[in-house]
Amino acid sequence: MSSNPRETWDFGRFVQTLVDFEALPFMGCLKRILQGQTRQPTSSSGGQNMGVIVVAGATGGVGKRVVERLLAQNYAVRALVRDTNRARTILGDRVELFEADLTIPETLTPALMRDAIAIICCTGTRVQPVEGDTPTREKYYQGIKFYLPEVADSPEAVEYQGIQNLVNLAVRCLPPADQQMIFDFKSPNAQIAELWGAVDDVVMGGVSESEIRLIEGSALFSGIVSTANSGGFASVRTKNLTPPLDLSQFSGIELRLKGDGQRYKCILRGENKWDGIGYSYSFDTTANQWITVRIPFTDLVPVFRAKVVRDAPRLDTQRVYAFQLMLSKFEYDGALNPRFNPGGFALYIESIKAYGGNTTPRFIHISSAGVTRPGKPGLNLEEEPPAVRMNDQLGGLLTWKLRGEEVIRQSSLPYTIIRPCALTEETGGQTLRFEQGDTIRGQVSREDIAQLCVEALKLPEACQRTFEVKAQPGLAENNWKALFQELDRD
Ligand SMILES: NC(=O)c1ccc[n+]([C@@H]2O[C@H](COP(=O)([O-])OP(=O)(O)OC[C@H]3O[C@@H](n4cnc5c(N)ncnc54)[C@H](OP(=O)(O)O)[C@@H]3O)[C@@H](O)[C@H]2O)c1
Repeated sequence: MSSNPRETWDFGRFVQTLVDFEALPFMGCLKRILQGQTRQPTSSSGGQNMGVIVVAGATGGVGKRVVERLLAQNYAVRALVRDTNRARTILGDRVELFEADLTIPETLTPALMRDAIAIICCTGTRVQPVEGDTPTREKYYQGIKFYLPEVADSPEAVEYQGIQNLVNLAVRCLPPADQQMIFDFKSPNAQIAELWGAVDDVVMGGVSESEIRLIEGSALFSGIVSTANSGGFASVRTKNLTPPLDLSQFSGIELRLKGDGQRYKCILRGENKWDGIGYSYSFDTTANQWITVRIPFTDLVPVFRAKVVRDAPRLDTQRVYAFQLMLSKFEYDGALNPRFNPGGFALYIESIKAYGGNTTPRFIHISSAGVTRPGKPGLNLEEEPPAVRMNDQLGGLLTWKLRGEEVIRQSSLPYTIIRPCALTEETGGQTLRFEQGDTIRGQVSREDIAQLCVEALKLPEACQRTFEVKAQPGLAENNWKALFQELDRD
C-alpha cells in the first residue's frame, strides 16, 4: 500500500479558490490563468503609496491643491475639515473626509490617524475684510494688501493651541519614523478580511485544507496539510493589490507571529499574475512563542512553484502585488522542509510591516515668512509685508504662528516647517528659492507650495528643517532634494 493513498480531489474547492481570488470571472480567463498569462493591470500609475496622508485645512487655497497632488501620486488621503458638506463640493469623492476642528481637542480622535503615516497641515486663521468691504473670494486670495483685514477666529486658538492639539495626536498615533504597517491584524480594518484567502495544494490536485480567520488580537492561519495525491502545502495569500504597494523606501518585511515549531514561508509577488514568480523566505517558528521575523528584501529567493528561478530579476519593491504565508512539505528544488509535520498546524499573525525605511517628515506644516519679525529691533516696517506691519491688528497672527512652530520643533516628530512669502493664485512651476533666517520678501504661488509639501513627504533631507520660500523669475524643474540639502538642520 502506498504511504500517500490517492484521495478524491475536490474540484469545487479548486474553483472556489480561483473565484475567491477573482481569477475566474469567466472560463476563458481560467484558460489564461492555467497558461500563466497575465491579467491586464487596472492601474498604470505605478505603486500605491503606503498609508494614509492626513491633510488639515484641506478646503483652503493650498490644502485643496495638496489633496489634488497627493491623489495624482496614488496616496490615500484623509481630509480634516470643519464642514463635510462644503468640503465634498470642493474636494470631490476620492477623499475620505473627517470632520473636526483643531481648536476643539475632543474632535481630534485617534480615528483621524488610522493607518496614517503623515500629516500635512495647511490650516490658517481665517482673515476676512472688515465689515463694509465686500471683495470677491478672488480678491481675498490676492492678499490682505488689497482690502482692510480682520481675523475671523482667534489666532492663539488656531495657530498655537490648535497646532498643539494636532501635534499631541500625531505623537500618540503616527508610527515610528522608519516603519510602516501593512497588515495590522491586531486592530484590523474592514478590508483585511476581504483581501486574504486560502490557496492550498488543491490547485495542484492535493487535499490539504486551510483558512485564515481574524480572532482577538491576531489572524489565525490554520488547517491540515496532507501529503496525499503528491500534495503537501497549505497557504494563505492576498488578492493582487491594485495598484501594487510601493515598498522601495524600505529594506524588508517584518512579521510578528506565534507558530507551532514548524518552518513556514513568506512569499511576496512582484507581478500582477495568479501564478507567476514568487519571492520566498523560509523562517522557523518556536512553538507557542511570539517572535519577530525580519525578512530583508535582499534575502528573498525567486521561485516558481518551489523551484528556484536562477536567472530571475530581483523583486521590484516599487510594485509588490501580493503577500503569501505557506506551510509546505518542500523547501526549494525538491529538498524537504526539515521541520515539517503533516497534519494540523496553527500560525498566529499579529502584524506584517515594512521596516528599515528612511526617516521622512511625518508632520509638514505651512507657517509664514515674517513670523520672527514683529517687534524685531531695527525693522523698517515700511518695507515689510502687511502681515508683519499689521500683526497687532490681526491679533498677533504671526506671533502665534511662531509659537505653533515651536510646538512642532519641540515635539519628537520628524517635521518640515515651510514659511512661504506672500501667496498668490499664479500658475505653478516656478523656480523656488529657499532661505533661512527669516529675512526674505517676495511671492510664491499656492500651487508651488502644494507641490513642495508633497515632495517633502518623500525626502529624508527635509526632516527637522524650517525655511522661508519664494519664487524667482522664470520657470524651471525644481531639484527638490538639492534645495533641501542646502538648508541647515534646526
Ligand atoms: N495669504 C498669504 O499671503 C500667506 C502667506 C504666507 C503664509 N500663509 C499661510 O499659509 C497657510 C495656507 O494658506 P491658504 O491661503 O491656503 O489659507 P486658507 O485658504 O485660508 O485656508 C485655511 C484652511 O484652514 C482651515 N481652518 C481654519 N481654522 C481651522 C480650525 N480651527 N480647524 C480646522 N481647520 C481650520 C480652513 O477651513 P475652513 O474651510 O473650514 O475655513 C481652511 O481649510 C495659512 O496658514 C496661511 O496663514 C499665507
